[in-house]
Amino acid sequence: MEKAVSILQQSHRISQDLTKRTDQPASLDFDDIQHFLMSRPPARAARYEFLAFKSGLDGRAWLTGLIDKVGTASAVGSSLLDARWMTVGFTWNGLRALGAGEASLATFPEEFRQGMAARAGVLGTTGANHPDHWVGRLASPKLHAIIVLFARDVAERERCRGEHERYLAQGGGVEVLSSLDLEAIPPFDYAHEHFGYRDRLSQPVIEGTGVEPTPGSGAPIKPGEFFLGYPDEEGPAAGMPEPEILSRNGSYVAYLRMQEHVGAFRDFLRAHGETPEQQELIAAKLMGRWRSGAPLVLAPDRDDPKLGADSQRSNDFNYAKMDPHGYGCPLGAHIRRMNPRDTAVNMNRRKMIRRGGTYGPPLPEGIPDDGIERGIAAFVGCASLVRQFEFAMNVWANDPNFHELGNERDPIFGTQDGTFDLTIPKRPIRKRIKGLPAFTTIRGGAYFFLPGIKALRYLASLSDGL
Ligand code: HEM
Repeated sequence: MEKAVSILQQSHRISQDLTKRTDQPASLDFDDIQHFLMSRPPARAARYEFLAFKSGLDGRAWLTGLIDKVGTASAVGSSLLDARWMTVGFTWNGLRALGAGEASLATFPEEFRQGMAARAGVLGTTGANHPDHWVGRLASPKLHAIIVLFARDVAERERCRGEHERYLAQGGGVEVLSSLDLEAIPPFDYAHEHFGYRDRLSQPVIEGTGVEPTPGSGAPIKPGEFFLGYPDEEGPAAGMPEPEILSRNGSYVAYLRMQEHVGAFRDFLRAHGETPEQQELIAAKLMGRWRSGAPLVLAPDRDDPKLGADSQRSNDFNYAKMDPHGYGCPLGAHIRRMNPRDTAVNMNRRKMIRRGGTYGPPLPEGIPDDGIERGIAAFVGCASLVRQFEFAMNVWANDPNFHELGNERDPIFGTQDGTFDLTIPKRPIRKRIKGLPAFTTIRGGAYFFLPGIKALRYLASLSDGL
């Protein structure tokens, strides 16, 4: 609880600090904003590369040759012929390596300056999730940049991988610390992850993009919640690092590589449900949705795959009025924690945009766990890591007393060590599952800043020793 209070205070303080506000037009600069948080291209494969610059000169030379290939919000989605979409981001150490001056670096928020590994205490990433166990050198201060490549298929991903490899070999001044290849899990007609849950159902809509929110999703969110330099839910643009050319149209993303223990998940379902129907219900109680995507609030007793597949209906629910005691969706289920809808205040200041995909081969049903790593490698995009992402991790995922539950954490990705419970409210008596195992393990993470295109050019034009 102590941790929860401290982050609530930090988050409150930050919102109070936003006094230096300037009036900005709300129209979004689609030519300058990277596409990453704006649109989701039809990619079935991806590759993330985590990079270190040998010198500022090397980093700037690498960046200079890439800027024209970075997908903008206006270009991505404008051509059906597109086959690959590229995004670039930098850690705080990366901005420094490129030559951003100390005065500028000091204006970035503290959590970004520290980096994700140093924030383990706030995030609750302890035990097996602790940065000491991370892979891919993501906790290293040498991590400077990420390049995210989404590709239409594996062949295109491989073509691009080769192209980038040759580009890096030409320059010679950029080291690949690690990389991760991702592929969607078949069948490809709907997005889902290794446990089998349908994904990509609920996502905030950004005001000014022209996208209509689906019923139940609420009004569009002000763009300043995701892009620096725009009005946010509290008023005109504020809190921009300096110089403005570097921060305008930028966003922060929190990267998480989360291993999914599919064997342990299936064993758990079998241990707690005698029939396949009961096992499906347990899976639904952990998530708050059936694996088909149908929300428990609307389909409390049995699955309704048509509802799960119907985007006009699958978000049309709330908790306070429709399921206050959690008889349908437990108070501690993943989606009820990550978006408590009408049961939390200030929800529009806590929204996050999720991106990413699955890595590792699917584990066929009926096959024991093969020990191969598989999971989700995801990004959470926002304008304030502390107010949006870190709050979700600290309070919603890992505060055992969230919703006054007493001894629970997010059953899907909270830090579980076998000592926390899951309460499933039910009339006449509720069920409490004690000693939940960890279904996921965080294998790495980092904070990146995704600059706008003009900011990329600015960074490429810097020189050492400013
Ligand atoms: C391995 C880990 C995770 C798995 C398997 C997982 C899976 C899912 C699934 C299947 C959904 C329902 C589909 C949807 O609403 O779009 C969902 C929703 C969501 N998840 Fe996760 N997730 C994981 C980690 C995270 C993390 C790290 C965050 C953020 C810190 C997060 C935030 C959310 C949010 C905000 C929603 C939408 C809830 C709503 O609006 O109702 N998830 N997740």
